[in-house]
Amino acid sequence: MVEVLDTTRLYMGVGIPAGDIWYDGARLPHFDAIVPRIGPSVTACGTAVLRQFQARGAWLVNPPEGITASRDKLHAHQLLARHRIAMPATAFASSPEDTDNLIALAGGVPLVVKLLESRQGRGVVLAETPAAAASVISAFRGLKADSLVQRFLAEAGGCDIRCLVVDGRVVAAMRRRAAAGEFRSNLHQGGSAEPVRLTRTERETATRAARTFRMGLAGVDLLRAADGPKVLEVNSSPGLRGIETATGRNIAGALFDMIERRLRPTPARRRLHKT
Ligand SMILES: Nc1ncnc2c1ncn2[C@@H]1O[C@H](COP(=O)(O)OP(=O)(O)O)[C@@H](O)[C@H]1O
Ligand SMILES: [Mg+2]
Repeated sequence: MVEVLDTTRLYMGVGIPAGDIWYDGARLPHFDAIVPRIGPSVTACGTAVLRQFQARGAWLVNPPEGITASRDKLHAHQLLARHRIAMPATAFASSPEDTDNLIALAGGVPLVVKLLESRQGRGVVLAETPAAAASVISAFRGLKADSLVQRFLAEAGGCDIRCLVVDGRVVAAMRRRAAAGEFRSNLHQGGSAEPVRLTRTERETATRAARTFRMGLAGVDLLRAADGPKVLEVNSSPGLRGIETATGRNIAGALFDMIERRLRPTPARRRLHKT
């Protein structure tokens, strides 16, 4: 049986006898598996609830640590770099005194300035001159929003590739193309989608990126650079409808197959594990 629960309506007790997880005055039953679908505005509350489910012995498709790390672009790129996964050259500085050094470190202009918590392309700006880059960086700072700078990969041609990874395999992939006059390929910025065939390196890069965050379900975004695929981000609650429509693949089916595989140990053995 599948149940959909509103993350923000769950409440829980911690360190009290009537702990556990509650919804509208009722204690929730045991769930074997949880598929987190946590909106970016409720990451803290959503991951807290996940930790509580985890403590009760539920299997999580995506773990709270991976979700949190993936939502901070700097943290995510640091983790990917540690696992030697290719990405566009990326740099970060917090002091305004270092803006010139920062731009030089990222390889100079043109470069992309991104809010660490950007999504749907909304906090991503292309700066073609050092002066433009410096003023965007300083504007974000003035708004108390952290940002990073990144080499602009013009050769991607306004396209990126969304790979849907389920249980360590790419089950669907689509190319998103930016609208005319736009470099961001996000569908929310008017981009369009079509199915695409991946190279072996692209498949491996996408599955390694998902594994870095220990995600059973991930939307991994790649840019096609001259020297191979570069990871832009890893999404823990990827939309399914758009990519299912574009590719004709049954991703929800693959997701349920994974859960069944993971919970396959016979009921008797599962009881043993719990005690
Ligand atoms: N370094 C880059 N070079 C070229 N295009 C980029 C680069 N970074 C981002 N883009 C484009 O901008 C889009 C949005 O960037 P992304 O990092 O995914 O931010 P968001 O999380 O807001 O979607 C990408 O899908 C891609 O099309
Ligand atoms: Mg994106």
